[in-house]
Amino acid sequence: MAATNPRSLSVFLLIAATWVAAAQAATFNITNGCNYTVWAAAVPGGGARLNPNETWSLEVANGTTGGRIWGRTNCTFNSTGQGTCLTGDCGGVLVCNKTGTPPNTVVEFAMNQYNNLDFYDITLLDGFNIPVQVSPTYNCSTVKCAADITGECPTQLQAPGGCNNPCTVFNTTQYCCTSSADGCGPTDYSKFFKDRCPDAYSYPMDDATSTFTCVGGSDYRVLFCPSF
Ligand SMILES: *[C@@H]1O[C@H](CO)[C@@H](O)[C@H](O)[C@H]1NC(C)=O
Ligand SMILES: *[C@@H]1O[C@H](CO)[C@@H](O)[C@H](O)[C@H]1NC(C)=O
Ligand SMILES: *[C@@H]1O[C@H](CO)[C@@H](O)[C@H](O)[C@H]1NC(C)=O
Ligand SMILES: *[C@@H]1O[C@H](CO)[C@@H](O)[C@H](O)[C@H]1NC(C)=O
Ligand SMILES: *[C@@H]1O[C@H](CO)[C@@H](O)[C@H](O)[C@H]1NC(C)=O
Ligand SMILES: *[C@@H]1O[C@H](CO)[C@@H](O)[C@H](O)[C@H]1NC(C)=O
Ligand SMILES: *[C@@H]1O[C@H](CO)[C@@H](O)[C@H](O)[C@H]1NC(C)=O
Ligand SMILES: *[C@@H]1O[C@H](CO)[C@@H](O)[C@H](O)[C@H]1NC(C)=O
Ligand SMILES: *[C@@H]1O[C@H](CO)[C@@H](O)[C@H](O)[C@H]1NC(C)=O
Repeated sequence: MAATNPRSLSVFLLIAATWVAAAQAATFNITNGCNYTVWAAAVPGGGARLNPNETWSLEVANGTTGGRIWGRTNCTFNSTGQGTCLTGDCGGVLVCNKTGTPPNTVVEFAMNQYNNLDFYDITLLDGFNIPVQVSPTYNCSTVKCAADITGECPTQLQAPGGCNNPCTVFNTTQYCCTSSADGCGPTDYSKFFKDRCPDAYSYPMDDATSTFTCVGGSDYRVLFCPSF
């Protein structure tokens, strides 16, 4: 009887669809541990203002590739969610649908890939603005970049609110590894980043020490300013 009622049926289908999505999605809880406001951003996912100690909970679908989470600083947005940020701005909108402007520290992820493994990392290839940590709820590696990179940034890489990657500043094949034939390796600048954040990508071919995996099905916590 109830199932023949179109309203009951659509409610049932909605609940069923939500259950299936929940079973296949990973939850990313993104928390602001900084003592200043951070405007969190995710692609896919959007964006949210986080006062200190606030959390934004994001569902990431099974099979998502090319996922990115980062924090934006010193933003002003109006009532329709339009404005600008000092770092990490994604085209002037609160709810991002494209990547942030460097410098920004970025958490990257790809879910349920080869052998149902999740891949995750922190990259400094777009520079650094906020310290960040990513920790799976499963027993897999916690990865963090918690050094004062902005405060120690080499003069030529300094930027308002952060520290640029040399590729952003100089745009040369050596720093950007645009051709693998260049035998691209570490540079003095990439070593500056790697010395301070050994778990994070410091140059494009830095995979061996910078990419992490976890069995698919884990949830994740992303924490800005983990040292606080
Ligand atoms: C993700 O999808 C794949 C393929 O459909 C499936 O094998 C796997 O169990 C799913 N993982 C999770 C955590 O839902
Ligand atoms: C935030 O923390 C830093 C470092 O501990 C401190 O210097 C600064 O005064 C704090 N700012 C606020 C607004 O609490
Ligand atoms: C931070 O938030 C958590 C969870 O909402 C809460 O339990 C904790 O007391 C808060 N800490 C501070 C210092 O406000
Ligand atoms: C950015 O915001 C922080 C914290 O609110 C503040 O201390 C700093 O002066 C701001 N920077 C700029 C360039 O406005
Ligand atoms: C928000 O800012 C945008 C871009 O500056 C502007 O076009 C829009 O009219 C503003 N909306 C409101 C409600 O102020
Ligand atoms: C991204 O968001 C902006 C502003 O909300 C919108 O105008 C634009 O169409 C969106 N682009 C895509 C690819 O969804
Ligand atoms: C977590 O994994 C490590 C390394 O594989 C292992 O030594 C440890 O016993 C595991 N801890 C738990 C609680 O499963
Ligand atoms: C970087 O240099 C390449 C050519 O070497 C050029 O095609 C590209 O547009 C440059 N990128 C920027 C952001 O200037
Ligand atoms: C994320 O936060 C929600 C709400 O506080 C909580 O129920 C859930 O257990 C958290 N998940 C993770 C992975 O921390």
